[in-house]
Amino acid sequence: MIHVSNLTKEYAGRVAVDDISFDVQPGEVVGFLGPNGAGKSTTMRILSGYMPPTSGLAMVGGHNVFEDSLAVRRQVGYMPESAPLYLDMRVKEYLHFRGALKGLSGKDLRVRTGEVMEMCAITDVRRRMIANLSKGYRQRVALADALIHRPPLLILDEPTNGLDPTQIRHVRELVRGLRPHHTVLLSTHILHEVELTCDRVIMIHHGRIKACDTPRNLTRGLRAAGTVYVELQGGKDVAKHLDEIPGVRKVVAEKADGPWQAFSLRIESNTDVREAIQELAMKEQWRIRELHRKLPTLEDVFIELAAGDAPARVV
Ligand SMILES: Nc1ncnc2c1ncn2[C@@H]1O[C@H](COP(=O)(O)OP(=O)(O)OP(=O)(O)O)[C@@H](O)[C@H]1O
Ligand SMILES: [Mg+2]
Repeated sequence: MIHVSNLTKEYAGRVAVDDISFDVQPGEVVGFLGPNGAGKSTTMRILSGYMPPTSGLAMVGGHNVFEDSLAVRRQVGYMPESAPLYLDMRVKEYLHFRGALKGLSGKDLRVRTGEVMEMCAITDVRRRMIANLSKGYRQRVALADALIHRPPLLILDEPTNGLDPTQIRHVRELVRGLRPHHTVLLSTHILHEVELTCDRVIMIHHGRIKACDTPRNLTRGLRAAGTVYVELQGGKDVAKHLDEIPGVRKVVAEKADGPWQAFSLRIESNTDVREAIQELAMKEQWRIRELHRKLPTLEDVFIELAAGDAPARVV
């Protein structure tokens, strides 16, 4: 559905997207992750046909986005980062206008407008002026706009930004419900959401793809295989002793609770240092009140990536 090869975008000589290549298969839900300024929105704008690349190829549904941007726009429902809504229009009127612009008419346009308002839970504000809507409601209007012409591909740039937890869940279910007839590329900073929603994750940093895999494989392949959390009473050399345990990469002191000291230990993959901590505690006569292992999450992968020490994992 999407084919990108050696895509580069420069703004006034500064590289925002740097020679990236990836494919998205029909029916896949792919999450686009990366720190602020990584190049996510830039890539999505190019794929939606709103901006030409500096070099490289981007194809959507077999069409070159640059040479055939009209055909691409028909296939893509794009929800931009900051939605350019017409503020002086009412919700229903706006969606009607957008639907007509995208080629719907007559009864189909009326019915579809009602449908997308239901899907995005905005039917109750259909007569309100967009200017008077809260941010979350505006996001949902923008999502309804992206969906209205039944596009096979949805490109959603931070669709849950500004939504309350109930609405985040609602959008997550909506995106899941688009399977298997739609392909979705979405960006988000909520890593948990990606784990719950996406088949595959593309991590981008400084305009380059750093990882591309299923959420499961990404967390599995993480170098620092999670953390071990320990709360104990001991001397002032506790951190130093913990740091010397084989397999411990880093010791981070957490907030203490009275005499109880707390530490998170980042550990190497395929190691489990919990027994070593017990042995050390016996030897040093520490008192332990909590000791558990936390398996790595996508957040750990993301933090490693942003710290610049993640191994490139492109599958
Ligand atoms: N219109 C523009 N003109 C000049 N530079 C731009 C423009 N748009 C984006 N950039 C720059 O390109 C880089 C990538 O920006 P982009 O908006 O694609 O990042 P992003 O991954 O979407 O970040 P965020 O998570 O903050 O939305 C940044 O360094 C940004 O400052
Ligand atoms: Mg962005």
